[in-house]
Amino acid sequence: LDLEKQMGTGAAQSHILVFTFPVQGHMNPMVQFAKRLASKGQRVTIVTTISTSKSVQKLNSTSFGSNLRMELISDGSKQVDQDSETIEEFIERFRIATSKSLTKLMTKVRNSSDASQYPLKFLVYHSAMPWALDVARRQGIDGAPFFTTSCAVATIFHHVYAGTLKLPLEGSRAIMPSIPPLALNDLPSFVSHVESYPAYLKLAMKQYSNLKEVNWIFCNSFDKLEEEVLNWMESQDWPVKMIGPTIPSIFLDQKLEDDKDYGLSLFKPSVETCMKWLDSKQPGSVVYASFGSLADLTIEQTEELARGLNNSSYNFLWVVRESEKEKLPKNFVEEISGKGLVVSWCPQLQVLAHKAVGCFLTHCGWNSTLEALSLGVPMVVLPHWADQPTNAKFVTDVWKVGVRVKVNKKSGVAKKEEIAMRIKEVMDKEKGMKFRKASLIWKELAKEAVDEGGSSDKNIEEFVATVRSINL
Ligand code: UDX
Repeated sequence: LDLEKQMGTGAAQSHILVFTFPVQGHMNPMVQFAKRLASKGQRVTIVTTISTSKSVQKLNSTSFGSNLRMELISDGSKQVDQDSETIEEFIERFRIATSKSLTKLMTKVRNSSDASQYPLKFLVYHSAMPWALDVARRQGIDGAPFFTTSCAVATIFHHVYAGTLKLPLEGSRAIMPSIPPLALNDLPSFVSHVESYPAYLKLAMKQYSNLKEVNWIFCNSFDKLEEEVLNWMESQDWPVKMIGPTIPSIFLDQKLEDDKDYGLSLFKPSVETCMKWLDSKQPGSVVYASFGSLADLTIEQTEELARGLNNSSYNFLWVVRESEKEKLPKNFVEEISGKGLVVSWCPQLQVLAHKAVGCFLTHCGWNSTLEALSLGVPMVVLPHWADQPTNAKFVTDVWKVGVRVKVNKKSGVAKKEEIAMRIKEVMDKEKGMKFRKASLIWKELAKEAVDEGGSSDKNIEEFVATVRSINL
C-alpha cells in the first residue's frame, strides 16, 4: 500500500487541477505542489497556458505514475500583438481567455471516460487569478488560492488592501503586527513605489477580493520559518496552510522517484558546463550569482557587478540571461576565464547543493530565497523589485543568513567595492561562520517541515483527506 501511495497508482479517487501563472518563479512552486499531491495518490493535472508549450514534454516524462498530467489552455495570446499590450491589457485579456478555456477544460475532464473513477473535485489556482474560483464554483467544485510569495509579503499586501497600511507611507517606517518595522526600501516595490507600478499593485490587491470565501489558502513557506506571521494570519481567521518549501524532493533527502528538478523550465540550463566547472573548484570557494528569470538590470549595475565579482578573491558562477548578455563589459567572458563562469541559465538547485558553492549573491526572488535557506547556503542580497526587498530584510534581520549590499540612494546602483566587500563578509572563514551556522539550522528545519509527519506534510495530507471526502 505504501508503494501505491508513493507512486500514486491505484489509490487515486479524486482529481485536482492546479492552475499556474506562466512565469518561471510562479510555476515552479505550483508544479512542485502538484507533484506532492500526486505522490499522495491523487490524480493531478497541472494547467498552464500555451506560452509554456516548449517545456511541456519534460514534465510528462517524470514518473509520478499516470497520476500527474499536464494540460495547456489558451490565454488568448494568439489573437493580440503582445509587444504592444500594456500590463492592464494583458491581465484583462488573460482573465477573459483563461476563464473560457479553463471552463472548457473542466468540462472535458468531467466528460472523460475515467471521470467516474477520478471525479474532478478541486481547483488550486495562483492567488493572482481569483476569477478562477468563480469558474470552479460554476462547475460545482471548490477552489483555493496558492500564494507564491512569502506569508509576510502576502500580509503586507493585505494591510494595504484593508487600509491598515496607508499609502504613501506616513513616517519613515511601516509598522505592522508580526512583521519587523520596515523602511521604505524594505517594502515590496509595488507598495513603496506605487506610482511606478500601479498595475502590479492592483493585481496584488485582487488576491484578496474573494479570500473570505475560501476554506484553504496555500502558502509556499513553512511554519517555523514564518511562525509569527502565521500566528497573526490565524488570529485573523485566515485558513492558511504552509505547504513548503516546494523543492524537488531529492534536495530534501527524500525518495520520491525522479524528482530531481522542477521539471518545467522555460530556459535551457547549461548543466554539464556548470557541474564540471564546479567539480574543479575547492569546497566553499565559489560565489553563485543570479537575479532570476525576470530582472532587467541597468548597464551600469551589470558593469559594477562584473567588476565586483571579478575583484573579489573568490571564484564565481554568474547567470546572465541571454537578453541581458549585451550589458556585460566587452571581453568580460574571456577576461575571467578560470576564475569565473558566465552562463545564460543553470540548474540552480544542483548548483546551490554543490559543495564548491560558498554563498549566493541573489535578487531574493522568493524561490531563490527559499532554495538557499533549504539547502543551507548563506546569501549576499541585492533585491531588485517586487517582493524582493522584503525577502531581503527577512534574510538579514530575521533569519540572519546573510548581508545586504548597499545601493547609492540617488542612482540606486550598488558599487563594485561594496559588492566585493559584502561577498567577503559572507565568504570569509571567520566572519562568515555565523551565517553558515544559521543557514544549516534553516536547512534542517526546512527538511523537517516536508518530511513525513512534518508541518507542511501534515497540511498536505489534511488537504488530500478533505478532498477525498468530498461527495459531489
Ligand atoms: C519572480 C519574481 O521576480 C520574484 O520576486 C517572486 O518572488 C517570484 O516570481 P524570479 O525573479 O524568476 O521570480 O525569481 P525566483 O523566485 O528566485 O525564481 C526563479 C526560479 O528559477 C528559481 O526556482 C530558480 O531555481 C530557477 N532558476 C533561476 C534556475 O533554475 N536557473 C537559473 O539559472 C536561475
